[in-house]
Amino acid sequence: MRIGIFDSGLGGLIILKEIVKKLPQYDYIYLGDNARTPYGNRSQDVIYKFTEQAVNFLFKQDCELIIIACNTASAKALRKIQQEWLLQNYPDRRVLGVIRPVVEKAVLVAKNKIGVIGTKGTINSQAYIREIEKFTPKADPPQAEKPQLEVLQQACPLLIPLIEEGWENRPETKKILRYYLRPLKLAKVDTLILGCTHYPILLKEVKGIMGIQTKVLNSGEIVAESLADYLARHNEIESKLDKAASVDGSTMLTMTTSAVPNIKFFVTDLSELYQELGEKWFGKGIEFEKIELK
Ligand code: DGL
Repeated sequence: MRIGIFDSGLGGLIILKEIVKKLPQYDYIYLGDNARTPYGNRSQDVIYKFTEQAVNFLFKQDCELIIIACNTASAKALRKIQQEWLLQNYPDRRVLGVIRPVVEKAVLVAKNKIGVIGTKGTINSQAYIREIEKFTPKADPPQAEKPQLEVLQQACPLLIPLIEEGWENRPETKKILRYYLRPLKLAKVDTLILGCTHYPILLKEVKGIMGIQTKVLNSGEIVAESLADYLARHNEIESKLDKAASVDGSTMLTMTTSAVPNIKFFVTDLSELYQELGEKWFGKGIEFEKIELK
């Protein structure tokens, strides 16, 4: 059995890369719904329907556990998938999102103000705010050291097209990024969550703009660490996963992805641009197979 990684497009490859670096011993299936990306501005019903189709596809491909790498789908579809669909269809398997692990880390390191940036869908869903409230340790008595955390959000809809265009180092992108981050910087957020698959590409620029007083959380690394921890605690899932006989992680990452037999990549659309983005974000020689989700 494998670990499935789902994203609305190819940004999830950035998360997958961190996961494979941390856990090279498992087999993976990546699915990017790039024929219907972006999900960021879509309605909840549509995002749910697409996510359900994707999860169903990955379970049929023998995934034991699925990580929804897409923040928008984690924000708008994960709860219903976990609470209703999974129970009716695959009660013994698991679907996890990216919001909870990042929030758990954020509430641990934040002093008093957390900033969240993401797509309009993620920000409007308030999913990060809800999770932060859930995971903030309640001070007892209430006046004890850690004050209630304040959360400031900012949707950044222009960043994905700029990143996909390869404009991450252009001055225009920095200007737009500075514009989006300005309210968070002025409010002196001490911790910033990059709530979108693509934003780790701008990690250096974001850190540069926010300054050293702000901890910028790299979601890919955090999700990978949290998955390792989850598998260590859930032997009933971990024991069912196929393991590569003697893969050494360092060797594996220096090989081209086509030489790594234990990751399959599925997409719902394939073009020169998608091939280019896949190679840029995951590795040379990545081989996609095109499928249809229904
Ligand atoms: N993968 C999405 C996310 O992390 C970004 C792209 C999209 O809007 O579909 O929110």
